[in-house]
Amino acid sequence: MGDKNEEFVVTPWEVRGIVDYDRLVKEFGTQFIDDRLLDRVKRIIGEIHPLLKRRIFFSHRDFDWILDKFEQGENFALYTGRGPSGPVHLGHMVPWIFTKYLQDKFDAELYFQVTDDEKFLHDPHVSLEITKNYAMENIIDLLALGFKEGKTFIFIDTDYAKTLYNIAIKVAKHITFSTVKAVFGFDSSINVGMSFFPTIQAVPCFLPSVLKGKNTPVLIPAAIDQDPYWRGIARFVAPKLGFYKPAQIHSKFFPGLGKGGKMSASEPNTAIFTTDDEELVDKKIMNAFTGGRATVEEHRKLGGQPDICPVYHYYEYLFEEDDKKLKEIYNSCKLGTLICGDCKAILANKVKKFMKEHQRKREKAKDIVNEFILKD
Ligand code: TRP
Repeated sequence: MGDKNEEFVVTPWEVRGIVDYDRLVKEFGTQFIDDRLLDRVKRIIGEIHPLLKRRIFFSHRDFDWILDKFEQGENFALYTGRGPSGPVHLGHMVPWIFTKYLQDKFDAELYFQVTDDEKFLHDPHVSLEITKNYAMENIIDLLALGFKEGKTFIFIDTDYAKTLYNIAIKVAKHITFSTVKAVFGFDSSINVGMSFFPTIQAVPCFLPSVLKGKNTPVLIPAAIDQDPYWRGIARFVAPKLGFYKPAQIHSKFFPGLGKGGKMSASEPNTAIFTTDDEELVDKKIMNAFTGGRATVEEHRKLGGQPDICPVYHYYEYLFEEDDKKLKEIYNSCKLGTLICGDCKAILANKVKKFMKEHQRKREKAKDIVNEFILKD
């Protein structure tokens, strides 16, 4: 989406333009999730999550190896994380919802990194107090999704620094400044904190092995913009340090409610935050850009364009689990029988229901946070 002629950009700190996912797979050297892999997942755990079936998680590296290990009785750990730069929106929750499914189905431990250091170092205007405060707020959103106590280990970088640092320096010793420049596109004006930070994000790939004293396979579910850390740092140093290379499963980006682009906290009118009230959710969705035509008459005649419509994609990502019903929405939009006002109103109701439930669980999660946090 976005301007058709604009060159797209995907880095851990910026996603812009119409993302060509096929090109990313080629450039990053990953594999598409294919039918054979889905069949295998289905055979092992009995069901395939819609996010996987619909190829929102569309790409991977060594996911088949993770399944080999699992079938041989070697359990893997999950690793994902959050940069606490602001409140959590629906887009952040897509990989978390998928991670929760993986934890449940494979009975896997989850290691969750909160990079308050990264967000502080990256943004010249942000204080460490702010990122630490968002760290706790964001963790509450994560826990509202129901991760398992005793199997879920959350750590805020600055509060778990002793453990992380001892591993980070072992990673850092193998990484030159030329490598981080090439992998992340940094130039020499980057602050030295940022040039060191990639080693900190690589650490949790090895943390389960260190904590257990036993080499442990790790699978990282995350949006594909985080891939440089795994491709360029973690997978490169793993064999040098005697660890397994971490495996990845990559998602596409959750669209914002505007025309093109991913949901972003810096564009609050087109993002739905977990703390938005019903009125605000209604307003944002009813004002959304759609794939509809200029007038109802034209829409009925020409049909809508679900492929470029964020409202349709919200059904696809999170708000219509039933494949048949999703197909109906798609087809009736294309035929022009489903008009945008109705389609948006139905979505708004679903989102409000989801939010109400999430906010209730969020309140409850506040009481249990401390059971999940690692400190040293
Ligand atoms: N850098 C990520 C962000 O800004 C946070 C993060 C740390 C992360 N470790 C991760 C994300 C592992 C995905 C997987 O959001």
